[in-house]
Formats: sequence, structure tokens, C-alpha cells
Amino acid sequence: MSKVVVVDHPLIQHKLTMIRDKNTSTKQFRELTNEIGMLMVYDITRDLPLKDVEVETPLVKTTQKQLAGKKMAVIPILRAGLGMVDGIIDLVPAARIGHVGLYRDEETLEAVEYFAKFPQDIQERRLFVVDPMLATGGSAIAALDALVKKRDVNPENITFVCLVAAPEGVEALQEAYPDVDIYTAALDEKLNESGYIVPGLGDAGDRIFGTK
Ligand code: URA
Repeated sequence: MSKVVVVDHPLIQHKLTMIRDKNTSTKQFRELTNEIGMLMVYDITRDLPLKDVEVETPLVKTTQKQLAGKKMAVIPILRAGLGMVDGIIDLVPAARIGHVGLYRDEETLEAVEYFAKFPQDIQERRLFVVDPMLATGGSAIAALDALVKKRDVNPENITFVCLVAAPEGVEALQEAYPDVDIYTAALDEKLNESGYIVPGLGDAGDRIFGTK
């Protein structure tokens, strides 16, 4: 079974409280969302493998560490996931970026893929699928379907990263993809009857892009 990790670093918790505040401006919200994305990936990547390399300093030749292992890619779920990408890419600039867009079919209520563009070597990479809110889990599961079922990605290469999760979403995602680890900055109380996470932070997409 996958891990569910609440990343409780004090800086993340402080910034998360700021974005929960309804009086936080769009500019601040956008900056903070990126910063939290960066801090979360900093924490998540602490297990990345390293290899020894030779480097010549101005003084001597020495053996030091360099990243080894799989290359990375960040996959934002459109549109709110875009709000976390710049912060993550600042940290891992060589990572590729794939996009997946989904809409809800009004009749079946199922998430339908309307856009997907991934790096061509997606199966070889370690993937961070990002969306600030894990609510019902519907979009997260559909995004993982786009990778695992349609493009043959190994679910063990995928980490799902969000800022706020509802217990309902965590349960649904774990049931559908037991091999995908979930990292969140907060595990909130519940979903309300309109599908919003409570206490939550409102509509993350609207708050990032200043729409209503
Ligand atoms: N999506 C959001 O942006 N906010 C929620 O509370 C739930 C889903």
C-alpha cells in the first residue's frame, strides 16, 4: 500500500495558513502556491539516489556526489496544477513538464481527458503529478489513468503532490492506485455537499488565476 505523507514542515504550514486566508491577494496566493510546491518537492526528493563523481576544485581533485537515477517530470493537472509548476521547476530545472486536462461529462459525471501532452520518454521518468486540491479524487484518478492505463507508465514511478487533501479523495486515490504515494501539506476534515474541501481554501484555480 502507498504512503500518505502530510509534509508538516513549519515553513509549509505557515504558508498554507496564509493561502487559506480569504483575504490573501491573487498575487500572494500565486507566489505562495509556488513556494509550497517547491518546499514539498524539496522534502519528497530527499531519497533521490546519488552517485560519486570526480570534480576538480581550484585546489584539488575530489570525489563528490551527483544526482543519479531517473530523470524527473512534473505533470500538472489543468488548470490549478499549473500554480505549483514554476516553484518546482526552480528546484529541479532539468525536469520536463507534461500536461493533462480533464473535464467532467455532465451525464456520466466521469472525468474525460481533453488534453494530454507528455515527454516522449515518460515511462522512464520519475513523475510528480500535481494538483493543489485532492477533493473527490476524480481528477487525480483520471490523470493517473491517462499515464498508467493509456501510456503504460509504472504507477511506482508516480508521486501525487497536493496542498490540501480531503479524506474522501485520499481513500479513492489509494483504492484506485495503491502504488502511488500521496504527499499533501494538509489532510482536512471533509468535503461539503458542493464538493469543496472544508476548511480548505476555496477554489484553488480561481484563486491562482484571479477568476470567479
Ligand atoms: N477544488 C478546489 O479548487 N477546491 C476545493 O475545495 C475542492 C476542489
